Amino acid sequence: MRITATVNGEPRQADDVWEGESLLYVLRERLGLPGSKNACEQGECGSCTVYLDDEAVCACLVAAGQAQGRRIVTVEGLASGGALHPVQQAFVDAGAVQCGFCTPGLLIAAHDLLRGGGHPSDAEVREALAGNLCRCTGYEKILDAVRLAAARWQDRAP
Ligand code: FES
Ligand code: FES
Repeated sequence: MRITATVNGEPRQADDVWEGESLLYVLRERLGLPGSKNACEQGECGSCTVYLDDEAVCACLVAAGQAQGRRIVTVEGLASGGALHPVQQAFVDAGAVQCGFCTPGLLIAAHDLLRGGGHPSDAEVREALAGNLCRCTGYEKILDAVRLAAARWQDRAP
């Protein structure tokens, strides 16, 4: 089947998609967007998190057909004009990236938390990121990064 969707603001099309294929597979293997990672393919790790019509979802759990005609934003779509999004820059500056496998999903989850404005408490940050597993950092630098992003990203424009 053919899937058409708006991906990172651009109309995109994937052909010969089979019925059991996930949105994650389509993004990575058919549309050349390898930012979203495939770590578990079971909805457990959050490394594949993307926005689907403004809702953060695990792309490995979304059937490709469900994405038909919808708006998708991946980690690649957070940056604009060659500049990292403030949330992305904060992860770099706080040293919150080691192997980087969890990072794309954490960036979408952190963006989703912060785009509503305000300065979430550490407990709120931990709760918002609870579905995103990291095996490297011990999470402290990720918390630092989200605090830094909250402080810098004043206008919270998505
Ligand atoms: S790859 Fe989708 S949740 Fe782990
Ligand atoms: S940086 Fe390696 S899993 Fe998080």
